[in-house]
Amino acid sequence: MTDEFLPFSRPSISREAIDEVVACLESGWITTGPRVKKFEEELQRYFSAPHALALSSATAGLHLAFAALEMKPGDEVITTPMTFAATLNTIVLTGGRPVLVDVEPDTYNMDVSRLAKAITQRTRAIVPVHFAGLPANLPRIQELAASRRITLAEDAAHAIGAAIDGKRVGSWGSFASFSFYANKNMTTGEGGMLTSGRLTEEQRNRLDVLLTRTERNVSVHPSTRLPGTNEIEREIKRYMDAGGAFAVCYADLDHFKEYNDRYSYNDGDRVIFLLSRILHDVVKGIFPSGFVGHIGGDDFILVLPLDVAAPCCSEIITVFDLLIPFQYSDQDRRAGYFFGKDRRGQLHRVPLMTLSIGIVTNEHRRFSHPAQVSELATEMKSYAKTLPGSVFVFDRRRDVDAGDVLGAQASA
Ligand SMILES: Cc1ncc(COP(=O)(O)O)c(C=O)c1O
Repeated sequence: MTDEFLPFSRPSISREAIDEVVACLESGWITTGPRVKKFEEELQRYFSAPHALALSSATAGLHLAFAALEMKPGDEVITTPMTFAATLNTIVLTGGRPVLVDVEPDTYNMDVSRLAKAITQRTRAIVPVHFAGLPANLPRIQELAASRRITLAEDAAHAIGAAIDGKRVGSWGSFASFSFYANKNMTTGEGGMLTSGRLTEEQRNRLDVLLTRTERNVSVHPSTRLPGTNEIEREIKRYMDAGGAFAVCYADLDHFKEYNDRYSYNDGDRVIFLLSRILHDVVKGIFPSGFVGHIGGDDFILVLPLDVAAPCCSEIITVFDLLIPFQYSDQDRRAGYFFGKDRRGQLHRVPLMTLSIGIVTNEHRRFSHPAQVSELATEMKSYAKTLPGSVFVFDRRRDVDAGDVLGAQASA
């Protein structure tokens, strides 16, 4: 009997772990940096797994694993009712129908004597949950899954380090998802890891596509939360397929690097966020279904019907030029410039930031792929940057005179 209330979970955190966290904070890599890479490599070795992917949670791991199955309506995934909501939620989220096999009363794990009867023609995966770290009957489950060519995905949220018949939990199936949430047997506060076993070529391709997509999405500046390159490409494709006249506007800050050097990365982040809000609010104010995407850094893309592109860009530049001086000190704002050093260490005048927007349209061109549009938009953005002040520049060239940038029309 203790006077203290029984805590829900009390993590065991060593001095060594605390020192590592401090070293991590001091390194500046507070998210997916070298330590995360090392963690992935160590778990990959530990499980002899072809893939080990550090994620924000075990839920994310289950989501990715089930998404890689590309389920069709009516596809079934067998698991147990003795689990956390995430197991079923991710099955439903990815289009599957959960089928529940009851647990054994003494282990709380899937009762394999009931499993065979639950398998149908529609069963795509079996998901044992190793409850409270005790492995489910993996030898039997694996045998059943293999004989019916069904994916075995382990919900190993509670069970890193457990083994059965000398073989580690997490290395029996095609996928295993581990949780490092605060109350788990190993914790990073929040976090998860998806490992994969031997995958079929189809599973590997699907997972690769998902990982590429995930990587692109997370590469977006975390504070703007705007859609990234993948969504941008999809949006351009949507406009291309719809057949109407559209414009793709590539917006980029001028003198942003010098601003970062003079002020701080925090100030730089604030400017990026401010620009994202200006772009978003102006576009949505003029054309509510207009699209604003963030490639990364200070590069943004707007995808709009052609007739709203000029009014949007004109308004964006007006608002930008009005607000940006207030991101500088009084002295710099009043002067309209500051002295910065160039690469050779020579002092030179750096003007306040301006915005360059290069615009590509399908008015005089036919595009067969979104990548062509992005390439031209990048070219137009580079051209816009050669012009003084905040400007937007339409590419007025036709397919035949590609390469002749003089056909561009600038507005400031
Ligand atoms: C069995 C089971 N699966 C999945 C999860 C989800 O883990 P996370 O919180 O890391 O998303 C949990 C969390 O408690 C769990 O108990």
